[in-house]
Amino acid sequence: MKRFRRASILFLSLLVSAIPVTGIAADSSGDACIKCHEKVSPGQVADWRASKHSGEEVGCIACHGEKHMAAKDCKLAVLPDEKVCAECHEDQFNQFVKGKHNLGWASMMAMPVTPLEPDELIEGGRGCGGCHNMGIKTKAQKEAQLKLGYRYQNNSCDECHTRHAFSKKEALNPRACQQCHMGFDHPQWEMWSSSKHGTRTLVKEVGDLPEGANAPKCQTCHMPDGTHNNHTAWGFLGVRLPFPENPQWKQDRITILKALGVLNPVTGKPTNLLETVKKLDMVRLTQEAWQAERDKMIKICGQCHSKTYARKQLEMGDHMLRKSDRLMARAIDIVAGLYREGIIQKPERYPFNYPNLLFFMRTGGGNLNKVSHIDQILLKMYLKHRMRTFQGFFHINPDYAYWYGWAAMVEDLGKIEETARLMRATHGKAK
Ligand code: HEC
Ligand code: HEC
Ligand code: HEC
Ligand code: HEC
Ligand code: HEC
Ligand code: HEC
Ligand code: HEC
Ligand code: HEC
Repeated sequence: MKRFRRASILFLSLLVSAIPVTGIAADSSGDACIKCHEKVSPGQVADWRASKHSGEEVGCIACHGEKHMAAKDCKLAVLPDEKVCAECHEDQFNQFVKGKHNLGWASMMAMPVTPLEPDELIEGGRGCGGCHNMGIKTKAQKEAQLKLGYRYQNNSCDECHTRHAFSKKEALNPRACQQCHMGFDHPQWEMWSSSKHGTRTLVKEVGDLPEGANAPKCQTCHMPDGTHNNHTAWGFLGVRLPFPENPQWKQDRITILKALGVLNPVTGKPTNLLETVKKLDMVRLTQEAWQAERDKMIKICGQCHSKTYARKQLEMGDHMLRKSDRLMARAIDIVAGLYREGIIQKPERYPFNYPNLLFFMRTGGGNLNKVSHIDQILLKMYLKHRMRTFQGFFHINPDYAYWYGWAAMVEDLGKIEETARLMRATHGKAK
């Protein structure tokens, strides 16, 4: 492997010195870049010097080309995408391509709320686009971004091993996941770090557990053996196909999928969005595909626990998902009733006269002068509290599963019932 990499570097430098037509400057070692950038951006140069790359003669030019050599032409510098890394790290690249991270940009872009939000938060790479930079962008996606004036964020490989240190050790630290797997709708960092698993890991880190003691971190369970392919059984949405056999659960799932706009609320037939959900791998499409991921996970738990114990733990998580879907469907039905009765007017952009969860907080369909409060409670119940209930359970965090998850869902349902009652009572009356 190492020999292969060295060979490809040799190949690259041969290429560089053999083809003068590409406009190579006299100095192809990159010394000129370093000399000037030691003044322009010394921190970057120091990071690069600290990296394995500097020892292997992978210099600035290997990634940025050498067309830019002066302050005024810095736009000529190549901003390398994942394919540049793939030239020397084919295995990791190929695994990444098959993984869930590779769909981060596409799934963000597929949300109806995305085009309504400020560009700075999307293409600018802060807000949604900061975390969803994960994923190889198509040519069309890159052009669209450039057209809006955004030149950076071309690489997902620099998210866990950040530039220019590009360190493996950094990426093996669970804090490398924290920057994105935190907060409103996916607080895996908070859940894990305050669970028994996280406590053990962090206590061990400062030397307060015997050297040989075990503790799993994000990478143990989600990137076993260094793989860059990351999938889970339920995924973010906590849905799979075919529908569950339990008739009530099936009915509740159908209600949720209607509110996601994946099923037509009137006919119950799939909409075009279902194709997108399938294409972006948001749900496992067969029982077997789901089971395969579950079995892999139980095998990982089995490194430290009995498999029976682990299986039971995860099955309880599945039951909690079913129970939270019951609460969720009841809440959706109440709000849907208000649409049906004309008490809430269908926002223009909504596909149906039915609540829609994919406009996030913009429950007026983008119209900020007309957001619906009860829909916002519903959205929070779905995206914040339902997520916490099952994610907290799977990450062995009692407080997230109960107070921040299940209990908060029950509270939301109460608020929705009461708000609907008030809305009916005051509908048509003077404000
Ligand atoms: C004579 C000084 C000089 C030399 C030589 C030089 N750079 Fe730069 N480079 C700059 C300056 C100045 C900037 C812009 C800094 C700013 O915007 O504040 C820059 C910007 C960049 C950028 C960022 C481009 C962007 O779009 O933001 C990259 C990447 C870069 N240089 C890489 C290189 C590489 C690789 C080499 C060698 C092939 C090199 N530089 C040689 C001065 C230099
Ligand atoms: C292993 C590949 C790699 C090497 C080697 C490398 N860079 Fe970069 N560099 C990147 C990536 C990836 C980005 C981010 C691109 C983007 O945002 O689209 C970047 C961004 C930059 C930027 C613009 C962003 C910023 O923070 O200012 C500058 C300037 C830069 N590099 C300078 C250098 C210099 C100088 C060297 C040599 C000391 C170097 N790079 C070596 C991969 C590399
Ligand atoms: C020209 C070849 C080349 C390119 C291009 C390249 N690398 Fe590397 N990379 C290497 C070599 C060689 C090593 C050292 C391998 C070793 O020690 O096993 C390395 C090591 C690494 C490591 C492991 C560092 C450690 O701490 O052990 C990471 C992570 C890495 N590269 C990421 C990247 C990323 C991300 C990119 C693209 C932005 C990239 N590389 C581009 C050749 C390259
Ligand atoms: C703090 C980082 C962060 C921000 C900000 C963020 N996301 Fe996410 N998003 C994630 C992570 C991490 C996941 C995966 C969580 C999981 O599986 O539990 C995710 C999941 C998703 C999914 C589901 C993907 C799937 O395949 O199931 C969509 C769609 C999505 N986000 C869209 C958005 C949109 C739109 C925004 C802005 C309005 C946004 N995200 C803001 C990090 C972020
Ligand atoms: C002990 C193993 C383990 C550790 C450690 C762990 N997870 Fe998980 N993770 C799971 C299990 C189990 C699931 C649910 C799998 C399923 O769907 O059956 C899961 C699911 C996920 C999901 C999908 C949505 C969800 O939460 O259900 C994401 C994203 C995730 N984990 C990220 C992380 C991050 C980030 C960390 C570290 C902060 C982490 N995990 C630590 C076992 C683990
Ligand atoms: C989600 C975080 C994450 C992303 C994104 C990521 N990596 Fe990694 N990478 C890791 C982790 C964790 C390891 C350590 C794996 C191990 O040894 O267990 C690693 C290790 C590596 C190594 C060192 C392999 C070795 O054993 O010497 C290379 C090279 C590498 N990654 C390249 C890449 C490239 C190229 C990309 C983009 C296609 C990428 N990584 C994206 C987390 C990530
Ligand atoms: C730059 C932000 C970012 C970082 C850093 C990051 N992730 Fe993610 N992760 C995401 C996004 C965004 C998604 C959802 C991708 C999509 O939209 O399909 C995701 C999805 C996942 C999933 C898939 C859940 C599912 O739906 O099956 C797992 C597991 C995961 N990440 C684990 C990790 C681990 C472990 C690390 C650290 C080694 C990590 N991530 C680092 C942004 C990030
Ligand atoms: C690298 C070892 C390791 C792996 C892998 C691992 N665990 Fe653990 N787990 C521990 C340790 C150590 C503890 C704390 C001591 C104890 O309670 O056994 C723990 C505690 C727990 C607890 C809390 C027990 C209690 O009494 O509060 C549960 C539940 C649990 N693990 C489930 C799982 C599941 C499910 C998986 C797989 C998704 C898993 N673990 C993977 C090591 C691991």
